[in-house]
Amino acid sequence: MRIIGRNTLMKMPLMTQDELKLAVAKAAIEYITPKLDKESVIGVGTGSTANLFIQELGNIKHLFDGAVASSDETARRLNDLGISVYELNDVNEILVYVDGADEFDPRLNLIKGGGAALTREKIVAAVAKEFVCIVDDTKQVDILGEFPLPVEVIPMARSHVARELCKLNAQPVYRQGVVTDNGNVIIDVHNLDISDAKGIEAKINNIVGVVTNGLFAQRNADLLLMGSADGVAKITAK
Ligand code: 5RP
Repeated sequence: MRIIGRNTLMKMPLMTQDELKLAVAKAAIEYITPKLDKESVIGVGTGSTANLFIQELGNIKHLFDGAVASSDETARRLNDLGISVYELNDVNEILVYVDGADEFDPRLNLIKGGGAALTREKIVAAVAKEFVCIVDDTKQVDILGEFPLPVEVIPMARSHVARELCKLNAQPVYRQGVVTDNGNVIIDVHNLDISDAKGIEAKINNIVGVVTNGLFAQRNADLLLMGSADGVAKITAK
């Protein structure tokens, strides 16, 4: 992990977590603005940090063409601001994808899916030329896994997938009452050993019935903007 810059203009020692989220949302707008033109389509994530980014995006909507949303909720918020929302199949390129995370490690591997939008988030991130992750400093860890890993599962495979996850010496917990935008269910995996993030990502995705899991290691973040009492740090993996 390498800190390549810090905006100390935003330094405010007594900032709340929500204020830190707003600071990184604004920093993301500042970062993407010079890259935009009238043809640009951007990818937009899901969650409370992404919602603040969406709010700020409304101020620069004249600078780009439109957006691809990582969830129905994000699409609704973009629409409400008058930002054109495209189906992924209808765009050739996503210039940049901006989204939050539940945890990140020094390699900028992420856990995502706290908001159950992991599959569409992973698809948009895979297509995007650049993935900018926006977080506050509570999301920083040395090794991923304190936050339970969300896994999206085809409903009929729920018990089978849970049994397979137990074989990894972890504790799967069914997220009651949650149905994803894709009509599936979520299993949160507690106490999973994620010392090999890419390996475990592939292993869990290989269980029959798993749609995808919330590890973003094969496609990690290119740049992370982290808000803390010291300002907004710009972080790359190396
Ligand atoms: C949603 C996500 C979010 O990015 C993640 O849960 C972080 O959310 P927040 O910005 O509210 O802390 O992966 O599926």
